[in-house]
Amino acid sequence: RTVYINGQYLPEAQATVSVFDRGFLMADAIYEVCAVLEGKLIDCQGHFTRLRRSMAELSMNLELSDDALLEMHRTLIEKNALDEGLVYLQLTRGVVDRDFAYPPEDTPPTLVAFTQDKAIVESALAKRGARVATQPDLRWHRRDIKTTQLLYPSMAKMAAKAAGADDAWLVEEGYVTEGSSSNAFILTQDNVLVTRELSTDLLHGITRAAVISLAEDEGLAIELRAFTPDEAKSAREAFMTSATSMVTSVISVDGHLIGSGAPGPVADKLRAHYLEHSR
Ligand code: PDD
Repeated sequence: RTVYINGQYLPEAQATVSVFDRGFLMADAIYEVCAVLEGKLIDCQGHFTRLRRSMAELSMNLELSDDALLEMHRTLIEKNALDEGLVYLQLTRGVVDRDFAYPPEDTPPTLVAFTQDKAIVESALAKRGARVATQPDLRWHRRDIKTTQLLYPSMAKMAAKAAGADDAWLVEEGYVTEGSSSNAFILTQDNVLVTRELSTDLLHGITRAAVISLAEDEGLAIELRAFTPDEAKSAREAFMTSATSMVTSVISVDGHLIGSGAPGPVADKLRAHYLEHSR
């Protein structure tokens, strides 16, 4: 693969990052993932806007404009002949002697990006529907910042897999916050779409926002509030959203089937609409 590193496009074997990079030593890094369908970026501006917000929250700097980032993403797609998959971007606070204090503001940041092939439209998981297992949400309390501190979500996903599920839904004080790498939705028996309101407890998903807006267009009733695992188990439907899973049905929670245990019609419709709107 050809990857991007600090202004250059290089074969991946030649693109190296220092041992002293704060992204490597301290997870002092933020990232974004944009889906690519038929060579085109999906909702990329939303991801760049969230990147700027993460940067502002952490006092990180970057000289590139959104237009330059978009150009870089398009160049990577072209150089790697990517049809379907994603572009991953990561920004770190740069290379400096290890210290808990941030380095001076003029320290050059590290910016890397690469493409990854991934089946999005014909995803096997989306077709079958995902089984989720609940896990305690033991992450830090600034989940609205998209940092690379992904060890706990990774542990939670492994624990969910060990319990026979595909992914974890994280639970705090009795309520679902979100998935290990997605936002969580349920459709109640009364056909109300429920997803947690935005706060520092969860990532402000770009796909979540797009799906809420599509659901509004559909005339669906929507409640922005937290829900419990029990409410999810007795829901009519459930699904998760993220750039790379788009809308993926959830067919069981802790082994308890939701509805008939197959992807539901509302989730299927929202997925189809999101795909349509993305083209
Ligand atoms: N994850 N919540 C968490 C914790 C996430 O990591 C993600 C995305 C989302 C969905 O956000 P969006 O719709 O903007 O992709 C919610 C990406 C895809 C990842 O880590 O690979």
